[in-house]
Amino acid sequence: MAQACEKTLTLEEISVPGYEKIIRVLNMDVGLHAIICIHSSVIGPALGGIRIYPYLNEEMALKDVMRLAKAMTYKSLLSECSWGGGKAVIIADPKEDKKKELLSAFAEAVDQLKGEYICAEDVGCSPEDVLIISKTTPYVVGLPHKKSSGNPAVFTAWGTFRGIQSALKKIYDSSDLEGRKIAIQGIGAVGFELAKLLFWAGAHLIISDLDQKKCLELQQLTGAVILSTEEILKTKCDVLAPCAMGGVLNSCTIPLLRCLAVAGCANNQLLNDSDADELASRGILYSPDFIINAGGLINVSLELEAEGYCPIRARNRVNRIYDQLMVIYDIAEQNRFSTHKAALSLGDYRLKYQIGKRIEPPYFHHASLS
Ligand code: NAI
Repeated sequence: MAQACEKTLTLEEISVPGYEKIIRVLNMDVGLHAIICIHSSVIGPALGGIRIYPYLNEEMALKDVMRLAKAMTYKSLLSECSWGGGKAVIIADPKEDKKKELLSAFAEAVDQLKGEYICAEDVGCSPEDVLIISKTTPYVVGLPHKKSSGNPAVFTAWGTFRGIQSALKKIYDSSDLEGRKIAIQGIGAVGFELAKLLFWAGAHLIISDLDQKKCLELQQLTGAVILSTEEILKTKCDVLAPCAMGGVLNSCTIPLLRCLAVAGCANNQLLNDSDADELASRGILYSPDFIINAGGLINVSLELEAEGYCPIRARNRVNRIYDQLMVIYDIAEQNRFSTHKAALSLGDYRLKYQIGKRIEPPYFHHASLS
């Protein structure tokens, strides 16, 4: 692999209790300042996206990457993917600073970890950027090539759809969507696909997005009712599906909710862990985000299996999100604690006893395609 920036690249460990490895990556020649965080590789090599974002300072970037990497550990454990939890952040403006040299220097750091961390796209980092990174290191997944797993949003939407069905089953003892009112906050890549699936299953849709053009397009396709970004949280519905940004469930918003369940794809929906208790005490069923939104991870990670990517296996595995959530609802009910706590407890148990530990190494099929 190319070692173009070898002399000026530095990797320094940052020690944080509870995290396996955190590395500050610097290459001043190309303006690279990144952090690679491996929360846990007990179950398998750490897999997670690269977020490129103009954080105000390193402290904020570190906080974000740690939170994201830990969530990946639990997402993988609960979806039985057999990967560890990792994430990387590059402190840069994706519109201004995302040059080939920057990505190549970052790739060199990934390569030095020899597969401990496998990277993928995330906010600010496209599959095309990952393709540039793959010229320097094989430890990538989700490339745009002929055996690729394609658009993760479709699989994330399908997993979220199955999660909504599981919530309805728990509430009504029927997963049937016919006539159910589902409110979707954010109709972007995932939310839009989800809305179409719900429409064909017979649901009544209520939607909201900052982008009115998207709302009108979806309204024409599905007859959805459009609400403002404030109203959507207060609307009476069976399920509220947060599909936009994180932190949407907090002490200000939870008292406003008039839904029976919250089940959506957004990452880090709870501002604080205690917000899950508040939802539970109000009798609102919460489908933990890192389980319901694992479809994209499940889909892309199949590229690394010996057999290579297969959409049918991906669909079948994503289908299991329904059962995985039913187990969580039952654990929560039996123990009289929140579904979020139930999910974390099950994750901790699997981690402790290394349940689902990866036996086969990952296969980087793309390395033989180029
Ligand atoms: P996206 O960027 O395509 O869509 C987000 C949508 O939310 C945009 O249309 C945006 O205008 C809208 N939005 C932002 N703030 C809003 C607000 N206050 N009220 C209403 N709408 C608002 O993102 P994507 O890919 O659809 O992801 C959605 C969420 O799901 C994110 O939290 C993401 O981290 C998470 N997620 C996405 C996965 C994927 O496969 N794309 C996988 C797992 C999680």
